Amino acid sequence: MCHMTEATTVDDLPAMDDPIWVEAATIEEFRTKGHACVRSLCRPDEVDAYRPVIHEATLEHAWDQRPLEERDTYGKAFLQATNLWRRAPRIAGFSLAKRFGKVAADLLGVEGVRIYHDQALFKEAGGGATPWHQDQHYWPLDTESTITMWMPLVDVPPEVGSMTFASGSHRLGYLGNYPISDESEAAFRTMIDERGLALETYGAMAAGDTTWHAGWMLHSAAPNPTGNLRAVMTVIYFADGTRVSPEPTEGQQLDLSIWLKGCEPGELAAGHRLPLVWP
Ligand code: SIN
Ligand code: NI
Repeated sequence: MCHMTEATTVDDLPAMDDPIWVEAATIEEFRTKGHACVRSLCRPDEVDAYRPVIHEATLEHAWDQRPLEERDTYGKAFLQATNLWRRAPRIAGFSLAKRFGKVAADLLGVEGVRIYHDQALFKEAGGGATPWHQDQHYWPLDTESTITMWMPLVDVPPEVGSMTFASGSHRLGYLGNYPISDESEAAFRTMIDERGLALETYGAMAAGDTTWHAGWMLHSAAPNPTGNLRAVMTVIYFADGTRVSPEPTEGQQLDLSIWLKGCEPGELAAGHRLPLVWP
């Protein structure tokens, strides 16, 4: 059973619905490289307000509750909790924020965006690397206009850093059936070498800074050698008007049954689970 929430903020949490201006150079960078960085998208007081709420919901809803050493490579990369804006309605003020939605629309160059889902990715103290992968591997969306916002809720030091991107890889589309694993790591490393793709990272980040990457972008992240949690929140958006892929792949079946429940292949990807967040 699912309770719908208002897109507006509840009680003490700040609304972040004021649109911001995205620099033309940032938009250009996203179009050519498939990734971009927008610093200080949230103010410190805004991050401080949402951090404990997101933290609590992530611990409660994390998929894999086993100790770090019992998990596989994917599980060691982070505690992962999805769909938090619906599971913990106070988080809707963050995940459905119009400020973020406008950045997504501006970078994609589209009129409107819907949220696909949100996802907390908490790399624990001693957590492993995030293997190379393509996010859209999992998404049965018939479009290239998909984008993920990645925002640390704590300062991320240089030795942990933000993601590494293989610039230009967003234009390569689907590169094979590689879920996040040791196999995806090996296969994509080889492809990156063979194609001579340039690797880039925005490095250390402050809480409230963001990176943005396209759905087909090849990306990875370093392990967390520190004693502190790398608390990151992500939100995935797609262009309004997108259809469900007419022939979803094997890797997209799970998402089809969760996020796109009620939408058939070829139909518009829309409905109350996928609300319009901009305009
Ligand atoms: C990470 O946070 O380590 C990876 C994020 C992503 O794959 O989008
Ligand atoms: Ni990813």
